[in-house]
Amino acid sequence: CDLQGLWRNELGSNMTVLATNTAGTFSGSYHTAVAATNKQILVSPLQGAQQHPGAKRQPTFGFTVQWQFSDSTTAFVGQCFVDHHGKETLETTWLLREEVLSHKDTWKATRVGTSTFTRIK
Ligand code: BTN
Repeated sequence: CDLQGLWRNELGSNMTVLATNTAGTFSGSYHTAVAATNKQILVSPLQGAQQHPGAKRQPTFGFTVQWQFSDSTTAFVGQCFVDHHGKETLETTWLLREEVLSHKDTWKATRVGTSTFTRIK
């Protein structure tokens, strides 16, 4: 699996992952199709790391997105899989933490979900 490329998930969000370096870290950008806020969506930077860079494996990885239009942060973890036709998918689980005014509101501050990305380029 190669994480580098352009990916789309089931929500219609697009993500560009740049080349992973030899240490396994990578950066990129995330254009979400949906948001929990009413603000205008902006393309936002992501920073991540994968296991076993350069190896022909199905690596686990994680990345965070620092949203440029909201106070929230999302962390994704997942694994890249390749099927028998060579088709790659990223199967992920994410946590979205929103900023709340008081720690008393922490109970409602985190959303969780799963997301599958397929390569579009
Ligand atoms: C926000 O609403 O505060 C920032 C945008 C969050 C978008 C979320 S991250 C998890 C899920 N998957 C996506 O592609 N978009 C939403």
